[in-house]
Amino acid sequence: MKIIKDIKEIQNLTENLRKEGKSIGFVPTMGYLHEGHLSLVRESIKENSITFVSIFVNPTQFGPAEDFSSYPRDLERDRDLLENEGVDYLFYPTSKTMYPSGYSTFVNVNLLDETLCGRRREGHFRGVVTVVLKLFNIVQPHSTYFGQKDAQQALIIRQMIEDLNLNIRFRVLPIIREKDGLAMSSRNRYLTADEREQAVALYKSLKKAEELFERGERRSLKIKQEILKILYSHDLLKIDYVEIVDLAKLRPLNIIKDKALVAVAVYLGKARLIDNTILGGNNEDLCS
Ligand code: PAJ
Repeated sequence: MKIIKDIKEIQNLTENLRKEGKSIGFVPTMGYLHEGHLSLVRESIKENSITFVSIFVNPTQFGPAEDFSSYPRDLERDRDLLENEGVDYLFYPTSKTMYPSGYSTFVNVNLLDETLCGRRREGHFRGVVTVVLKLFNIVQPHSTYFGQKDAQQALIIRQMIEDLNLNIRFRVLPIIREKDGLAMSSRNRYLTADEREQAVALYKSLKKAEELFERGERRSLKIKQEILKILYSHDLLKIDYVEIVDLAKLRPLNIIKDKALVAVAVYLGKARLIDNTILGGNNEDLCS
């Protein structure tokens, strides 16, 4: 696997690969990789002749009080993992390369960023959309792979691809979980042993929601109440939000007609954890 830090070098490379008729798959990440990231990488390798991964802890998507400086980083470990999977190229730029002095363009996807995490993390999705569009313009992939773990992010990127007429196939893959059900996340390493034990409450509460839905419950309020009951019974958790929304616009639903996204965010010690499930559907509902 070749590690490339220079933007022009990647652009020349992908231009040549495209001329040779190669299909290019791309997985953007912030590193500190786990099985969730690797599931995206494996799908890209399966579907494309060449796979690019990027590792960039993007400063513009972190708020001033958030964990940009403490976000876990381990390039050597990540490099070994990616090499082992058979990734062809790792794009590993510096902040200065991505945001040179005088940088002044930001891209915003309106409306979809006004609910769920967007309401709590002002400017977060603006930073995500901007960096992802830059990465797409650098790597110029045919297909890109995202995780349902960040369902709102996936829908926002899908909207950006559609609105700006990008010629990129957009895939969203299922949430990969630890044995006990906790969704894998680079931020799980912030958890103490006690917090780690309670973290499984998110998964348990979403399982409960699925169970109720399968038994025919369609009232969001009832489902939310059961989720909250489980979360409240874990004293270390502080609930940020529990929302049941439609999959197109992420607007709250009172009654679930066919499908719904149940999204949960909690604070647990130093970590803010998110998880979700799609009632009546699956990750394919988020793909383009
Ligand atoms: P990061 O949190 O590193 O995640 C990179 C990709 O991995 C995202 O598409 C995310 O949804 C996916 N992912 C994370 N945990 C997962 C899990 N448990 N199962 C399946 N997929 C999982 O998301 C970002 O980085 C950044 O916002 C980025 C898009 C790279 C822009 O900076």
